[in-house]
Amino acid sequence: MGFKAVKISEYVYWVGAIDWTIRDFHGYSTEWGTTYNAYLILADKITLIDTVKAPFKHELLARIASVIDPKQISYVVSNHSEMDHSGALPSLIQDLKPEKVFASVMGEKALQEHFHLPVEIVPLNDGSELSLGNLRLKFLETRMLHWPDSMMTYLVEEKLLFSQDGFGMHLASGERFADEIEETILKQQAAKYYANILLPYSPLILKLLERVAELALKIEKICPDHGPIWRQDLNKVLKWYEDWANQSPKLKAVIVYDTMWQSTDLMARALADGLCAEGIEVRVMRLRANDRSDVMTEVLDAGAVIVGSPTLNNNLFPTVADLLTYMKGLKPKNKIGAAFGSYGWSGEAVGMIAERLRAMGIELVVEPLKIKYVPDNESLNKCRTTGARIAQILKQKKEK
Ligand code: FEO
Repeated sequence: MGFKAVKISEYVYWVGAIDWTIRDFHGYSTEWGTTYNAYLILADKITLIDTVKAPFKHELLARIASVIDPKQISYVVSNHSEMDHSGALPSLIQDLKPEKVFASVMGEKALQEHFHLPVEIVPLNDGSELSLGNLRLKFLETRMLHWPDSMMTYLVEEKLLFSQDGFGMHLASGERFADEIEETILKQQAAKYYANILLPYSPLILKLLERVAELALKIEKICPDHGPIWRQDLNKVLKWYEDWANQSPKLKAVIVYDTMWQSTDLMARALADGLCAEGIEVRVMRLRANDRSDVMTEVLDAGAVIVGSPTLNNNLFPTVADLLTYMKGLKPKNKIGAAFGSYGWSGEAVGMIAERLRAMGIELVVEPLKIKYVPDNESLNKCRTTGARIAQILKQKKEK
């Protein structure tokens, strides 16, 4: 017994690692863990596509060794230099001494800037091909999807696209193929990955999808660097990506807030009541009970983002400041919004939220709602009518 490779086509094996227990991936909550996928192509020139995070090198080598002697690897292709895929590369080069290591033009620079390697990395231009003897690889530069170095590799004869982070998700599982996993889990985790990693690059995703169509690349399998491999009904995941990249807002509102003495919480619930009464799908997410990355997953297809904070020492509550900073970087589009919160004596937080939402291009459609200390029935009714008003504006915009 030991770690085994998984055959995914005539020439290709999955030889990655499963990280069952990781729960925080650079600030993104990974409640299901993740995988670091690497692929071994048994061509005349035996080739490894990507590696794994450094602590998992033994697992990668064991899986490779279940098929061949790892020293038989001639080429290594690095599609993406982020360290969850390149961390094992330096010691692997040292141990296995492959003939050549390839990366994109930017990848060559990034790998050297990370690892200061003792070997030359061969840079590959967009559209170039590499012969493996009996098989061919074709390279697609996907700069800024999601790093400057990112590229995808297409195995021509088997119609496999090694898509690095694209079409991936953080999901540790014993199943290697997406069609073996429940679709609701796949869609939720793929959406979470998109919302937290790829969202700011949505215009580039749309161009990539066009380019794949133009190139008429016949793709039979999509092999990402995280999560399961897509081998059936690829149009499903391509359509999810198209929808997320278009950022078309649904009739859905996310109310995200934090609270100190439950007054802002009462306001959030009353706002939600008003939205629900108008038939809008609502998520109420208190920070400290919901991770920022889960909030962004819900924001992905929402039409309205309603943010609340108490005022703490003339400022935003820290978790709300964290969320707003994180959300700004992810550049959500086509949203309307509102700000609310309870305060004791100064009450700056609500204005700060409004200012930050506007700076993100979120259109504020109602006056910011500020309530002193604890809301009474009249104040809560005002929250309800405000929620209903936001719902009506969302529906009007959707009809246009
Ligand atoms: Fe999975 Fe951008 O690294």
